[in-house]
Amino acid sequence: MAIIETDNLTKMYGPHVALDSMSLNINSGATGLLGPNGAGKSTLIKTLLGLIQLTSGEGSVLGYNIRTEGDSIRQRIGYMPEYDCLTPEMDAVHQVKYCGELTGMNTGEAMRRAHLVLEYVGLRDQRYREISSFSTGMSQATKLACAIIHDPELLICDEPTNGLDAKSRGFMLDTLVQVVKKGERSILMSSHLMEDVERICDRIVMIHKGKLIAQGRIEDLKAIDREIEIWVWGGASKMERALHDAGLTPRRTGRVMRVVRQDETTYDLVLELAAKAGVQIRKMEDYEPSLEDLFLVIMDRLGYGVKSSVDLLQSQPPINSIAPAPSRPGGEF
Ligand SMILES: Nc1ncnc2c1ncn2[C@@H]1O[C@H](COP(=O)(O)OP(=O)(O)OP(=O)(O)O)[C@@H](O)[C@H]1O
Ligand SMILES: [Mg+2]
Repeated sequence: MAIIETDNLTKMYGPHVALDSMSLNINSGATGLLGPNGAGKSTLIKTLLGLIQLTSGEGSVLGYNIRTEGDSIRQRIGYMPEYDCLTPEMDAVHQVKYCGELTGMNTGEAMRRAHLVLEYVGLRDQRYREISSFSTGMSQATKLACAIIHDPELLICDEPTNGLDAKSRGFMLDTLVQVVKKGERSILMSSHLMEDVERICDRIVMIHKGKLIAQGRIEDLKAIDREIEIWVWGGASKMERALHDAGLTPRRTGRVMRVVRQDETTYDLVLELAAKAGVQIRKMEDYEPSLEDLFLVIMDRLGYGVKSSVDLLQSQPPINSIAPAPSRPGGEF
């Protein structure tokens, strides 16, 4: 069932197009929102919450119109913003209780739930401490507690692991996994970290320069460009050239290279090319791609010469040439 739908959503800040005719269809479950800095992730989240006005287009979240029913949306979803939204001089329990009251709970119920959710996010013993004394991990956990106090059916998290050390990050991810898997709640989570998204989400929405470049189940997107991994013994450069000449555009790391599996004849073609080039193949098998691999394939197609998602997601890399993003959502990116 679609919990978020948008039709040609466009948001301009003055002349700057932050969201460009974005048509999304997000089902219940866990969805990762991926994109480089400035891609429009936070803008998209804020428009879905009805916090900022659209320039044009339509959208709904949980069936409520994002233009006119922002209040109803915000009551039903939990939002963990990327910016600091806590009151430093409050203690955690009163901060979280206050967030509960903002969603419409009475004081007693909000206090009862504040204790429960703070325990859930691992802050049982720090409940009465002032937030100003909290580490980044503890502050992020408090933000999560605020977002889930009313047990929302959809949780929207903007960079939930940003700035966290390995231990706090692991704990945050475990908690989010619990919300999704055990709590059977939906989540839309933006992140710079492929591993984090892969750990929690089975779907992604990838955006770039305000445009949608891919959406769908990670498994389905990976299946579009299945690769074969080839291990050669000596003559790796010769083999790489032969694959290139045959139009297979290999990606090579040392003696291992991967080519897109065009169809069932690709295996035979590789064997033939190896025989002609006098290169011995040690192993050849279907490659099981990670989300990182998928990301690199998509970015390759858009003309980015990046070696890892970190290159692109954490800084602005050099751009070779950027092909226009396809207008058809989930198309052949
Ligand atoms: N209030 C604003 N006024 C003008 N331009 C803005 C405003 N907010 C965002 N932008 C611009 O819109 C684009 C999208 O910004 P947004 O914050 O949505 O990106 P993002 O994907 O969340 O980036 P990040 O990964 O850095 O959080 C950027 O070019 C940004 O500079
Ligand atoms: Mg952002």
